Amino acid sequence: MKILTVVGARPQFIKASVVSRALSRVADEVIVHTGQHYDKNMSDVFFEELNIPKPAYNLGVGSGSHGKQTGEMLMKIEEVIFTEKPDIMLVYGDTNSTLAGALAASKLHLPVAHVEAGLRSYNMRMPEEQNRVLTDHISTWLFCPTQTAVDNLKKENITAGVDKTGDVMLDSVLHFLALARSNPKKTAIYGQLGIAPKQYRLATLHRAETTDGGLDAIVRIFDAFEQLPQPVVIPIHPRTRPLAEEAIKKRGYRNIQLIDPVGYLEMLLLTSGASQVLTDSGGLQKEAWFMEVPCVTLRSETEWVETLEGGWNVLAKLETDDIYRKATQTVPDPSAREKMPFGDGKASEHIASILSNRKE
Ligand code: UD1
Ligand code: UDP
Repeated sequence: MKILTVVGARPQFIKASVVSRALSRVADEVIVHTGQHYDKNMSDVFFEELNIPKPAYNLGVGSGSHGKQTGEMLMKIEEVIFTEKPDIMLVYGDTNSTLAGALAASKLHLPVAHVEAGLRSYNMRMPEEQNRVLTDHISTWLFCPTQTAVDNLKKENITAGVDKTGDVMLDSVLHFLALARSNPKKTAIYGQLGIAPKQYRLATLHRAETTDGGLDAIVRIFDAFEQLPQPVVIPIHPRTRPLAEEAIKKRGYRNIQLIDPVGYLEMLLLTSGASQVLTDSGGLQKEAWFMEVPCVTLRSETEWVETLEGGWNVLAKLETDDIYRKATQTVPDPSAREKMPFGDGKASEHIASILSNRKE
């Protein structure tokens, strides 16, 4: 079985790290990197640290408008399919790289396997929602992280090829957090940043809905961070950096520590050590939940509704007062964690086994 995997953005490298390891026992995998993320700390660092097989192709597509970026990926992925003649196309999540991989394959009648299928925000203005809905509807295998995802697909009449495998991000946290904690070069991050475990909060911001609000939205968010009783460390996504720097210059914030994006091992340490996470990221909301760190999600909806149970994750509008109130007044309920909705930590193995036992 030959699998062609398309990745392109940071969270996809992290997911691929665990899935590729499982697939290596049952398939030949050829990895295509679209080049959607290309800075060293948005791409290379993950391949170097997480033992991900080196991509056989880097399409070098880079940044651009949705149409340009997705269109260029589509053309180049099609060429790779012609050259490699794989049996399966594997894609992750909901980025433009996901849609391009799925669409290029589907048009050539190459069956698509979608990891993290069935997620919905029911906000069709999000580029990610468009990508995931379209990808799910042209996939042959739909690997769902949760029962909610299975139910979402059912509402769209998708039941064939649907499996609840659990969340591959849980596999990756279980595997890599232990490695990070036992590596003094990585645990040095606390000292380097001058922070002590549980004495700081961790934030990330990169969603289009956040940055589309321009400087005003970032100032409203940072005004809330400024009032929090602990410093807020922000590994800033390159998309948000110019606005964040402008906001800091304008308002002279003293409680905000802007740092470059970090590798995954350091990120797991920063997350597990934080007293709270504030984020618009999909993946980070769940990682906070896995590590029992309360989270404030800076969005009006979330795909990961299970994390809302018992107040472990709360939604906040992009308004200073709402963020401050949610960040300081929410007390999560420990009894709400008895259910484990994200699987058994072996989602990658389940995926590999379903694909290797597939019937043509
Ligand atoms: C993309 C995904 C989003 C995912 C995120 C993970 C889409 C539509 N969005 O958003 O779902 O949550 O990745 O991080 O696919 N940039 C750099 N260097 C890089 C990468 C990006 O400077 O290595 C800057 C560029 O200015 C670029 C901007 O960030 O225009 C946005 O990058 P892009 O990949 O288009 O979207 P993300 O916001 O990263
Ligand atoms: N992450 C990282 N370094 C950082 C910020 C995030 O390794 O500086 C990891 C984070 O732990 C999570 C993933 O990147 O595993 C989330 O990616 P992102 O927030 O970019 O995308 P999303 O999950 O929202 O699609």
